Amino acid sequence: MSSIIVHGGHPITGEMKIQGSKNAALPILAASILIHGITVIKHCPKITDVFCMIEILKQLGCQISWEENSTLIIDSSSIEKVRLSLEEAGKMRSSITLLGALLGRKREAFIPYPGGCSIGKRPIDIHLTVLKELGIEIEQTEKGVYAKKTKAPSGKVMLSFPSVGATQNAVLASIYSDSQVILKNCAIEPEVTELCYFLNQAGAKIEGIGSKTLIIHGVSRLQEVTYEIRGDRIAAGTYLAAAVMTRGSLTVKKIDPKELSSVLELYQKMGNFVKVYQDAIFLDASKRKYLEALNVTTEPYPGFPTDMQSQVMSLMTIANGKSEIIENVFEDRFKTAAELNKMGAEITIEENPKRALIQGVKQLSKAEVIAPDLRGGAALVIAALQAEGETKIENAFYIERGYEDIVGTLRDLGGIVVLR
Ligand code: EPZ
Repeated sequence: MSSIIVHGGHPITGEMKIQGSKNAALPILAASILIHGITVIKHCPKITDVFCMIEILKQLGCQISWEENSTLIIDSSSIEKVRLSLEEAGKMRSSITLLGALLGRKREAFIPYPGGCSIGKRPIDIHLTVLKELGIEIEQTEKGVYAKKTKAPSGKVMLSFPSVGATQNAVLASIYSDSQVILKNCAIEPEVTELCYFLNQAGAKIEGIGSKTLIIHGVSRLQEVTYEIRGDRIAAGTYLAAAVMTRGSLTVKKIDPKELSSVLELYQKMGNFVKVYQDAIFLDASKRKYLEALNVTTEPYPGFPTDMQSQVMSLMTIANGKSEIIENVFEDRFKTAAELNKMGAEITIEENPKRALIQGVKQLSKAEVIAPDLRGGAALVIAALQAEGETKIENAFYIERGYEDIVGTLRDLGGIVVLR
């Protein structure tokens, strides 16, 4: 298993172009099943979750190839299979959106229960409830879910919680129909909005994009489409956190600052200089007196994103005073705290209400730590960039699921980082 070795104490400084969004690319890759022909996806991130999704699509009958500069060509002219193997689908959460896509294209699907990070139970009850209310027949076996579309999805459905994946699944299952579907209490994360823009560019008729109510007018066919994935807001927030942690000065390009406003607001309140442009963010932490301790509560978009919670926990370990984090989206997303404490952080986790209390320290120290999940692993890299000496982060495969060449990127920005 690979590890990332970080030699701390070097500011993360310079200019970078951010990768394409993992959490937009994955549902859009699934959605390409709906297109009886070629889908061209530009600015597609080269990360292991995308490679895994590509393998699944190939198993279903898609022909897929990479072109230069992160362009993916997918030919979904013939989709032969409707059943996913556990071996691939079990590796990641986003395989669940293939349920909606296959229902759209083939009117049936079998999906093994999805895998994912150990940040919580991650049930799929909302997905299945919404699909059932759309008229889809659902049968749960001990290995997975079999779904069959015997009539056109129609009617009005209210999600019990604005689940990102369940919103995406419901949209994908409703595209092909001679009726209309109204989805209420939808997630409005940019990755949901982007999937809807992609589908409309291919000829779907979705109204209310960006709002909590989506109206899907069914169509009979989608056209071939070329689409460019937007910058990854969480990866951008992560690299900016590395600049904050090391008193660097970083420009991130190809990113819409509006998708990261709650995070940028926090970085400013913590004492860093932030300037935003139409498609770039500049952060300068080099002149900061000290890092302000602050409280953060994660919420669905546009609240503070749960996917930035671990990274901000790392920042709080060296803040001036006591910070608090309340995690409202996933029930088990504080596993990084124990690893940060190995580096000299002072974090305690309290129950009722479940929260992390972080007492800032002057300096973190080197340690051997283990990435507990994707974003927790990134948080440990951020902490190691400030720690004195050489820190080893094991289970680097978690980090490679969502960050394209994080080692090369940090080295280009002045970090002393190697993959071993
Ligand atoms: C997506 O996961 C993202 N993953 C997650 O990013 C992100 O943290 C999450 O949205 C929230 O923004 C991808 O897009 C591939 P949810 P998803 O359904 O769709 C509960 C990362 O680091 N829930 O909005 O699975 C669930 O357990 C990953 O890139 C149910 O109870 O998130 C969680 O507590 C991590 N039943 C909450 O809702 C359901 O049927 C939010 O989950 C579905 C969800």
